[in-house]
Amino acid sequence: MLNFEYCSPTQFVFGRDVETQAGRRAKALGAGKVLLHYGSGSAVRSGLIARVRESLEGAGLQVVELGGVRPNPRSGLVYQGIELCRAQGVDFILAVGGGSAIDSAKAIALGVPYEGDFWDFYCKKAVPQSALPLGVVLTMAAAGSEGSDSAVITHEPENLKRGLHCELNRPRFSLMNPLLTATLPAYQTASGATDMMAHVLERYFTLEKGVDLTDRLCEAVLMAIIKAAPVAVKNPEDYDARAQLMWASTVAHNDSVGLGRTGDWASHQLEHELSAKYDVAHGAGLAVIFPAWMRYQMRNDTRLLCQLAVRVWGCELDFEHPERTALQGIERFEAFLKSIGMPLTFEELGAKEEDIPELAKKVKYADNGLVGNFYPLDRAAVEEVYRIACQSRDN
Ligand code: NZQ
Ligand code: ZN
Repeated sequence: MLNFEYCSPTQFVFGRDVETQAGRRAKALGAGKVLLHYGSGSAVRSGLIARVRESLEGAGLQVVELGGVRPNPRSGLVYQGIELCRAQGVDFILAVGGGSAIDSAKAIALGVPYEGDFWDFYCKKAVPQSALPLGVVLTMAAAGSEGSDSAVITHEPENLKRGLHCELNRPRFSLMNPLLTATLPAYQTASGATDMMAHVLERYFTLEKGVDLTDRLCEAVLMAIIKAAPVAVKNPEDYDARAQLMWASTVAHNDSVGLGRTGDWASHQLEHELSAKYDVAHGAGLAVIFPAWMRYQMRNDTRLLCQLAVRVWGCELDFEHPERTALQGIERFEAFLKSIGMPLTFEELGAKEEDIPELAKKVKYADNGLVGNFYPLDRAAVEEVYRIACQSRDN
């Protein structure tokens, strides 16, 4: 196990009606004027924005609203938010929504005190030194942004989707009411579950030895998602299923299951190019990429694929041919994704095989020209993973 340092400073407040605490929680953190930042309409239609506004104003806070965050959030609205906060003297940001609204809020929070262009942080030209405090009311269990140190933004001029990890990105509080996710369309519920599974799997595939505890934690989180996701897809108002998924979203990505091990993250980099180009849901893109990446990795190492197949997917270990067990695990993963309505191929996602060279070129490689840490991929290997993702699956 690797050495690590870990701090998850977010106050998680979980359960029915917790969104009504937004005002007093922000006030306790010294807020005077709050930017209420949200998505393209779902939270307005459900009456949530009105309720949250009431809570903020009830606590004596002034409120400035900026809605309109689109899935795969763009830099344009971030620039607008930064200007608005400066002009209005906003001192606290409250994001209401899923990963997109939260990530947009995180970028604004870093951009307001910074004299240069916030994008400098995302292209590693500068390191953030301060941020406005940020709170969250979560409406979608998926990205884990409510507890993570990361944010992902698409820079509009060149359509470049990039992530930024920094401790300042962690929200001060996250209010998590599972019932707020009951209005999610089934596709978004499934896409969110897939994203959480991918966050766990990215951490699971490591070359680090002596990581039994986190192996087991990862497997437990995966098994809980596998049980809850089909229930929530079928019965959107099932509180217990929604609650399992909501907390799984946080645990999958606040790093607790990845401590002491180096995760892979190639699949996320490959997916970011899909959602940047085709504007698809991030989780749906991962449903196409992750099994393809696993199939590619079969040539390098089947130990963890086998372990996953046996412990999580209930496969019986074929001692003589462990690669068969590994493959069976991948097939069960694909069958599960299909059963909750996720796409498995480029075609089902709306991506095009002829774009593969362009996608592979845009992927963010490390300085050594490789992406991922488990068995890293060069550009030719990335193209191959994308090609595997084009092949139809008949299981
Ligand atoms: O915009 P509105 O109208 O609110 O609709 C959203 C959006 O269309 C809708 N929605 C959200 N909550 C709802 C709801 N509809 C009905 N009822 C509700 N309660 O769902 C759609 C998707 O929302 P979005 O926020 O885009 O989804 P998600 O949480 O999956 O976030 C995706 C973004 O997060 C990034 C992704 O790349 C993508 O840009 N990620 C962020 C990470 C992080 N910050 O740590 C890590 C992830 O790996 C991921 O990359
Ligand atoms: Zn993700």
